[in-house]
Amino acid sequence: MGMRDPRRFMNALKDMGIDTYVFNKESASTLPLLQKQAKDCKKCGLAATRRHVVFGEGDSKARLVFVGEAPGEEEDLQGRPFVGRAGKLLDQLIERIGLRRDEVYICNILKCRPPHNRDPEPGEVSACKDYLLGQLEIINPKIICTLGRHAYNALFEVDERITRIRGNLTKFKGTLLLPTYHPSFLLRNNERTKEAWEDMERLKQLLH
Ligand code: URA
Ligand code: SF4
Repeated sequence: MGMRDPRRFMNALKDMGIDTYVFNKESASTLPLLQKQAKDCKKCGLAATRRHVVFGEGDSKARLVFVGEAPGEEEDLQGRPFVGRAGKLLDQLIERIGLRRDEVYICNILKCRPPHNRDPEPGEVSACKDYLLGQLEIINPKIICTLGRHAYNALFEVDERITRIRGNLTKFKGTLLLPTYHPSFLLRNNERTKEAWEDMERLKQLLH
């Protein structure tokens, strides 16, 4: 019995004679509840400069979750992940897997835009991480695909170079994880596109 069915879980507790179950205040059992918590979040300094919290979007039962870095200008304006230039390229990568954007789930390490799109700071990453961990726990996908070095490094709390880790299938808390390039990096380094396509082919096979 997983956490995917909270009502069954509660009923099972009742059967055991446990009538009250105190949930951790910080934990939310559904994506909408978690999103509601994030909406007015002020856990780090980015709250002061953001226009919208970009929580993430897609299928709450997705078998594949993409994790990017942080919202850019367009994402901050619209409150949606990957809707700018990098997003267009991500859409194309998703197409390569044979999926539609609404069949996967897309989110970021940071839910708020860093000023001038600077790199995430360690304090921001740790302040924001519980939202991402919550999303992954609720969705419980078959595969996580991290985009770029920040997503990978934040999840594993390491400091790796993307060229060293990309394409190396691993696991995060028991879930398959494939690191690939960030679409923004691909826009600047076209010669890496072939490797990204190979990663999408790999995802397709793993999801089969
Ligand atoms: N880059 C990211 O990492 N995430 C977005 O949502 C958009 C651009
Ligand atoms: Fe909260 Fe994350 Fe936004 Fe910081 S980046 S204010 S932790 S939602």
